[in-house]
Amino acid sequence: EKGTYPHYMLKEVDEQPLVMRKIIQKYQNNQGKLTIDPAIVDAISSADRLYIVACGTSYHAGLVGKQFIERWAKKPVEVHVASEFSYNMPILSEKPLFIFISQSGETADSRAVLVQIKEHGYQSLTITNVPGSTLSREANHTLLLHAGPEIAVASTKAYTAQLGVLAILAAVTAEARGVELSFDLVKELGIVANAMEVLCDQKDEMEYIAREYLSTTRNCFFIGRSVDYYVGLEGALKLKEISYIQAEGFAGGELKHGTIALIENGTPVIALATQEHVNLSIRGNVKEVAARGANPCIIALKGLEEEDDRFVLPAIHEELTPLASVIPLQLIAYYAALHRGCDVDKPRNLAKSVTVE
Ligand code: F6R
Repeated sequence: EKGTYPHYMLKEVDEQPLVMRKIIQKYQNNQGKLTIDPAIVDAISSADRLYIVACGTSYHAGLVGKQFIERWAKKPVEVHVASEFSYNMPILSEKPLFIFISQSGETADSRAVLVQIKEHGYQSLTITNVPGSTLSREANHTLLLHAGPEIAVASTKAYTAQLGVLAILAAVTAEARGVELSFDLVKELGIVANAMEVLCDQKDEMEYIAREYLSTTRNCFFIGRSVDYYVGLEGALKLKEISYIQAEGFAGGELKHGTIALIENGTPVIALATQEHVNLSIRGNVKEVAARGANPCIIALKGLEEEDDRFVLPAIHEELTPLASVIPLQLIAYYAALHRGCDVDKPRNLAKSVTVE
């Protein structure tokens, strides 16, 4: 039930700190160490390449998950949109492991790939919110998101739960492979949960940003580099699906290769700046669009912020920023949709679970 909340989406956004704490607890053993079913860690360790297959928001989570797994566990990962993979299968490695990410566990496009790869005898893991769902039953292994039912069509808490579980999977695999992480993930995820809480308490600010940038615009761009690019894709998807504003996410350096032609006076460009190694270059990209009249809204990580930034995210570990930076984007999308009189929980043309190919 949504209780006192006007919409499920807002309730589910607010649940994110709790879900994060629950995930930490569910994947901890009695000694407080992160653990994952050893059969899953074995399956990953013995694969020579991981193939993440998913759709929509879950695909965006997969892009971030690739970074966690490659950087920490040192395993090569490819991320594929399910509906493309089935009809255009890439050359596979010798010992692939498939990871299906699906909130519902029922998405037909993802299931089509699972059926295909099972015919070849390949191993699979499903990361899902729904125990006993089709993708969970049909894969060799399952990891649960523990996010509780997600009712709003726009996925919010499932995305951050997917990132949390992928981070834990990457860290546990790293350890099993003898790679030492430079930080304590349990502690850092705890800090992330606290930051999520701080962000959920700043709804007025997000409503204000939505009003200022998005109340009359026809379109909106999201830019970022590295993981900020992936979070931008998710921010754009949230905004377009519930507010019907045409929104696109771009790699910071890519806009000038064509799309910058769409920038007019006042076009909102939401830029994420949470990564130190690309901080200067993303700020350069913001200047390029601002010089053509764009109305930039920079969301920066504490420590990297500059004077004109519109919003500063609480300090968290730099590799985990997608878990927090998506929350302002979810809330901005929510308020933009609300101000424009859209049906936030049930946007037109969409179903919660897409069971046709
Ligand atoms: C966006 C959204 C969709 C789903 C996609 C995959 O807010 O909800 O893009 O993420 O349809 O669904 P699952 O994760 O259930 O496979």
